[in-house]
Amino acid sequence: MNKTWWKESVIYQIYPRSFNDSNGDGVGDINGITEKIPYLSELGIDVIWLSPVYKSPNDDNGYDISDYRNIMDEFGTMEDFDKMLAEAHHYGIKIMMDLVVNHSSDEHAWFQESRKSKENQYRDYYIWKKPVNGEPPTNWGAAFGGSVWEYDEETGEYYLHLFSKKQPDLNWENPILRNEIYEMMRFWLNKGIDGFRMDVINFISKDTSYPQGEIREGHKYGNGSKYYMNGPKIHEFLQEMNKEALSGFDTITVGEMPGVSVEEGKLYTGTSRNELNMVFHFEHVGLGDGRFGKWDPREWKLTELKEIMTKWQKGLEMDGWNSLYWSNHDQPRAISRWGNDSDEYRMVSGKMIATCLHMMQGTPYIYQGEEIGMTNVKFNDINDYRDIETLNAYRDLTPVSLTHEEIFKGIHERSRDNARTPVQWDSSPNAGFTTGTPWINVNPNYEKINAEAALKDENSIFYYYKKLIKLRKQNEIIVYGTFDLLMEKDEQIFAYTRTLGEDQLLVICNFSAQNTVFTLPEDVRYSSKELLISNLNVDENQSIEEVTLQPYEARVYRLKK
Ligand code: NOJ
Repeated sequence: MNKTWWKESVIYQIYPRSFNDSNGDGVGDINGITEKIPYLSELGIDVIWLSPVYKSPNDDNGYDISDYRNIMDEFGTMEDFDKMLAEAHHYGIKIMMDLVVNHSSDEHAWFQESRKSKENQYRDYYIWKKPVNGEPPTNWGAAFGGSVWEYDEETGEYYLHLFSKKQPDLNWENPILRNEIYEMMRFWLNKGIDGFRMDVINFISKDTSYPQGEIREGHKYGNGSKYYMNGPKIHEFLQEMNKEALSGFDTITVGEMPGVSVEEGKLYTGTSRNELNMVFHFEHVGLGDGRFGKWDPREWKLTELKEIMTKWQKGLEMDGWNSLYWSNHDQPRAISRWGNDSDEYRMVSGKMIATCLHMMQGTPYIYQGEEIGMTNVKFNDINDYRDIETLNAYRDLTPVSLTHEEIFKGIHERSRDNARTPVQWDSSPNAGFTTGTPWINVNPNYEKINAEAALKDENSIFYYYKKLIKLRKQNEIIVYGTFDLLMEKDEQIFAYTRTLGEDQLLVICNFSAQNTVFTLPEDVRYSSKELLISNLNVDENQSIEEVTLQPYEARVYRLKK
């Protein structure tokens, strides 16, 4: 396993709109981020993944870009950006930008030109098709509802949009478009940024025969995903991008990849393949999806989670690399999803899930607010939600497919807005996020859960994360050790070892609200042990052959052979 800085890093994701507002307009901004760099430095992270800050009409909060080389007005100016970058670098923190190039905004100059006429030089920057018998060319449904095809009167053709109709897909078959993108990437790299998180990057190569998708029971549209996920030319495009845009720079890259398998993950991240450093797979975050995906969730089992995580750990162990995440701006809050956000168990379970993730092999990601144990929010009025995906799902699924009560259960558990309520900085009005009116309401629990309180409490989740990050810096085994699952069939305990040469770690996590007994398998042998970290007080001399774990207890031991 070759050693690199990005394998040894911990990444912190900032969703700028909800991070920190410096000018009182209710929207987080770049100067707000700059103000908080010392806070992030105190936590000890190495890299910031910055969700999009480019010019955008905000149909999808910046994931619809109208100008790739300028900053969104609400977020500030290019000067502010340069200052933030310099400040981050001053603190030894790198910046990884979001790269959204499967699609642009329909307000991008390229699309404005493209829609004008079939002869326009930008026509082929997007994917245009003639109607088939007066209908769209395929039956595929879009991620945010409706068809993926939008009819444009101007030229009498449809354009493809896998997300909203204001997010037309770029045509990667066109080499001129590809070069524009590589040039734009070099523009940012030359500015000094340190890498890219690539939005749905495994969607850029489509099956250009555009077959019909299968229509599942209860659905109006067909599922076209197998014709655009991990498509025919995806590896060719990524290798070209690597050569044309990234080579010559010392970067970190991660590809967001819904529907990626471990086998494909090996191809995307294999060292000799020169594509990406790592990918975000979706297998664990999709656990419990119902007939209508996240909107009618079912219970999931710990054995299901362990199977998924283990498959990825073992699959990329020898070559390739994992990214490790519980949450991001598209997912519910980590504690509410994987731990227990009740008053009784929030702190202990927040530390437990952090332990379980940060001790695995891969680069860990912390989503803003996770380090202070922020939780999901329960707005009861649909008008309090802002997310296009949530609003469209409510519009399209109620009352025929799901009742109001059913979909609200799904929204409370899984809506993207759970992650998008403002970061809770202190107990002052609006959690210290803004002096104005926030663009989305603050979670009412901010008086109790906030960064100021966390920084004052030496037992806080914040300091626990800080310790986990520090341990990674001090123990190579946390980065490079191999992974082996223990107690595979247990529905309460997630336990595993990490091994590097003669060194071994034993990680034990109770994912349940009950006491439960951990039994050390006989083949784990050791002559001495040392407790590295735990989320409850532990008698260090206690034997580990059999341990009664308390609810959500987590421990990590270093074992000497
Ligand atoms: C994935 C992003 O993370 C999400 O926020 C966005 O809506 C879609 N891609 C479309 O860009």
